[in-house]
Amino acid sequence: MIKQQLARFNRLDLLTHATPLEKLDRLSSWLGRDVYVKRDDLTPLAMGGNKLRKLEYLAADALAQGADTLITAGAIQSNHVRQTAALAAKLGLGCVALLENPIGTDDSNYLGNGNRLLLDLFDAKVELVDNLDNADQQLLALAERLRSNGKKPYQVPIGGSNALGALGYVRAGLELAEQIKDTGLEFAAVVLASGSAGTHSGLALALSEVLPGLPVIGVTVSRSDEDQRPKVQGLAERTAELLGVSVPASFKVELWDEYFAPRYGEPNAGTLAAVKLLASQEALLLDPVYTGKAMAGLLDGIGRQRFNDGPIIFLHTGGAPALFAYATAF
Ligand SMILES: Cc1ncc(COP(=O)(O)O)c(C=O)c1O
Repeated sequence: MIKQQLARFNRLDLLTHATPLEKLDRLSSWLGRDVYVKRDDLTPLAMGGNKLRKLEYLAADALAQGADTLITAGAIQSNHVRQTAALAAKLGLGCVALLENPIGTDDSNYLGNGNRLLLDLFDAKVELVDNLDNADQQLLALAERLRSNGKKPYQVPIGGSNALGALGYVRAGLELAEQIKDTGLEFAAVVLASGSAGTHSGLALALSEVLPGLPVIGVTVSRSDEDQRPKVQGLAERTAELLGVSVPASFKVELWDEYFAPRYGEPNAGTLAAVKLLASQEALLLDPVYTGKAMAGLLDGIGRQRFNDGPIIFLHTGGAPALFAYATAF
């Protein structure tokens, strides 16, 4: 049902192949527990990551509307802004981004290296703001300003997380379900980082229809369970509505919120240890803001026996360019 409905939506066909689902052999034998990784860090645009899946739908909409500029917002080291700017460059569109410094740092690596360096290479225009507390309104005001200068801006929400963007992860969920079926294995859970929620909502919505017994566990990177839950639930509902389907009865929001402290954008000891472990055991590059925290949750969850029996899938949503911005943390 979801699959047929999804086919009605326009999508830029940039992800022509499924991203790999791979077993992490060395980590699995070290842990005594099989861990697989879905490699969305390998999406084919400017160092990869989850946002291309959302942008396939959002940018198709922008082009259909005749836009000439993508506008968006995020942290100075946002992977989302980097991927939006990259796609704008590839499509011959302009890009303007509102950037905040969520950790109030003056570390030159954070301010100029990593994702921020790449924004300049993609010719994105950047405006620094004190905060993004009212991001939608701030983007509306930016759009107004650009329009008065003769531009045709298209507003990409923070993280690409509206219902249209979340369709990218509905599609990813269907893709992953096929790969899971091909393995013939019964997995215990899929674990991912849950931030602006489009990845979590879209993936969980699709999997609740096609693999209803499989838990999807979002490790929060910026909020408590209480604050994140309505975001994931609400976006799943709006995404289902956009698709014209009802949210399956088996849909469930599962959140682990013990791993994001002290706050968004600041890694803790467990985050750094997870990044180091995956790099040294598997040459798999996680990041200090999202996937490091999610992997720390997965590892702790194994230690504390929080999972059902069976192998576990980690959704690698990318972010490694930010490693260079956090060089002094390691
Ligand atoms: C590397 C990485 N992982 C995970 C996420 C979280 O995805 P979402 O914002 O859809 O919850 C992001 C979002 O910016 C990200 O950059």
